[in-house]
Amino acid sequence: MKDLGYYNGTYGPLDEMTIPMNDRACYFGDGIYEASTCENFNIYALDAHINRLYNNAALLEIDIPVTKETFKNILLEMVHKLDSPSQLVYWQVTRGTANRTHFFPENTPANLWITLRPFQLSDIYKLKKLITMEDTRFLHCNIKTLNLLPSVIASQKAKEAGCYEAVFHRNNRVTECSHSNLLILKDGVLRTAPTDHLILPGIMRAQVLDIARELQIPVDETAFSLAELMEADEILVTSSTVLCLVADEVDSIPAGRKAPDTARAIQEALLEKYYRETAGRQ
Ligand code: PDD
Repeated sequence: MKDLGYYNGTYGPLDEMTIPMNDRACYFGDGIYEASTCENFNIYALDAHINRLYNNAALLEIDIPVTKETFKNILLEMVHKLDSPSQLVYWQVTRGTANRTHFFPENTPANLWITLRPFQLSDIYKLKKLITMEDTRFLHCNIKTLNLLPSVIASQKAKEAGCYEAVFHRNNRVTECSHSNLLILKDGVLRTAPTDHLILPGIMRAQVLDIARELQIPVDETAFSLAELMEADEILVTSSTVLCLVADEVDSIPAGRKAPDTARAIQEALLEKYYRETAGRQ
């Protein structure tokens, strides 16, 4: 198959798949999701994504009707149905199908969705431009919910400005980006906002922090300001679909690029880990 949609056990080409209008995703975005990539039919960091999904489900009292092991097996079975060994793997769980009520419906099993598309990792060494924007999202950004309207608007504004991402800030604290985490290098230290309710605990963020520790780069998970962002030696943007990118401009002002060797060492180590852990056709 060229691409694939899966819904509660039924699957087919994406544009032929339909879902019930009463799926609570349609009314409320009442669900959670994960996105990763796949090389050689191996889904990268699958355990980390599955663990986050089940943590998020517990936070929202969504009862995923299958075990983690079963969910992983469904995903792995589906990725093998695609022609392309390199895929964008997206999956979500919604709080079931029921007539519209704000409160949780009773006796409605959660719905499992998967979408798979061919994917090619873009050049991680290509420098990116960023804009900054006030973070107007809610206070549960640690949960990867389907409610993404502020992020959608911010991402569109970034695109219109010719930028890759919008950097959110709240009370002069840089939080993260519309669909990525943000880290800075300053005086040899890798800094990023702590994993509280204002940011998503990104899987690539955690991997980049681990790599920094391996490279003997000190890590500091305390929030920093917009001024500190502009003064950073390097600005790193991470997410599962791009790994780790470097920015050289913020709000049309040149920024970062004062420690290119350190930034490059982190990127190279991450790329090496990515291809090592997805090597070999399954
Ligand atoms: N976005 N912060 C936000 C708000 C995100 O939406 C994402 C991921 C990240 C990075 O998380 P991770 O490293 O686990 O991918 C941080 C995904 C890719 C998306 O919405 O498609």
